[in-house]
Amino acid sequence: MIYLDNSATSKYKPKKTIKALKNTITKLSTNPGRGSHKLSIKASLKILETRESISEFFNLGKPNNVIFTSGCTESLNMAILGTAKSNGHIIVSTFEHNSVLRVLNHLKQRKNITYTIIKPKNEKINISEIQGSIKTNTYLVIINHISNVTGSEQDINKIGAFCKVNKLLFMVDAAQSAGHVKIDMQKNKINLLCAACHKGLLGPQGLGLLLINDCDVKPTKFGGTGINSESLEMPNEYPEKLECGTLPVELILSTFESIKFLNKNFDKVNNKIKKLSLILYNHLKNNNKVILYTTNFESGVFAFNLKHTPPNIFANYLNKHDICIRAGLHCAPYAHKYINTFPDGCIRASIGYNNSKRDIKKFIKVLNSFNE
Ligand SMILES: Cc1ncc(COP(=O)(O)O)c(C=O)c1O
Repeated sequence: MIYLDNSATSKYKPKKTIKALKNTITKLSTNPGRGSHKLSIKASLKILETRESISEFFNLGKPNNVIFTSGCTESLNMAILGTAKSNGHIIVSTFEHNSVLRVLNHLKQRKNITYTIIKPKNEKINISEIQGSIKTNTYLVIINHISNVTGSEQDINKIGAFCKVNKLLFMVDAAQSAGHVKIDMQKNKINLLCAACHKGLLGPQGLGLLLINDCDVKPTKFGGTGINSESLEMPNEYPEKLECGTLPVELILSTFESIKFLNKNFDKVNNKIKKLSLILYNHLKNNNKVILYTTNFESGVFAFNLKHTPPNIFANYLNKHDICIRAGLHCAPYAHKYINTFPDGCIRASIGYNNSKRDIKKFIKVLNSFNE
């Protein structure tokens, strides 16, 4: 089986991540922050250590502002809903995922919030395009760092600096970039960073991150936190303000191992992905059967179509040859409109640390064997 669907979820997980998942469920099955017994305290301390390592990984500098969620979707929901201003205005990019767009649609109906979608001229958003979209009631800019459709990357450093000067909150959807490119929340002036642990961070499914830097996110979920139990209000301080219910200790402690792995192997992992991506890019770019939409090959995300074949037909052919890719619309409708692949979508092959040169060669061979 050749797995080229790493943008959906990464195939490779470090050995210690898997071991921690097993060890935690067998040896540390306890509820953190809910008891004063030794096991509960041990789990709480490990969770704190994980927050510290994540805070350091993204240079947040505030371990308690690392909020664990169920995935990037929940992080984005919590960040957008928790900072929502009635009658306000938000700026987003055309690459946004439905986990942003559907929340905005909901806010448009419930809180009279409007939004402007920037369609950059050449994939990369120009600061003047943000500047030209600002209204008197604009309070937030949301940017998809690396597109899950095309792999286009936005310059979050420039956009962050612009937002800071213009007193706009800056939110980054790092679902596809976390673990692949360095993100420095202080340097990039990011207020809200949303990520999934199961993609580039090489962790398990079911855990997401919301990192908060100098801004107030109101709770949108309510429940037990293990502290201030006498009050009917959620606690005022992070992380308890936004985390309620039992934390998934297994997922958090195994992610801790993934972060340790990435701290040691960041360049090794990403240089391998870039090297393999260059091979595939050079082939797809020069194959006259192919319409290639990806220009930023370094992301490892390849969006393309065959000139005369709908994506689902080619996906079935690949499936028969034991090749896993994704076809159709990839939950980002405006990104497809931007590259003219709406409504049928496109093929997306996404390279990860699991892949080898042989995988890429086999993929190319199977692609070339397809008769349109
Ligand atoms: C750009 C982007 N944002 C958000 C998400 C949602 O992430 P999750 O499914 O882990 O909640 C995805 C998932 O593929 C994504 O690609």
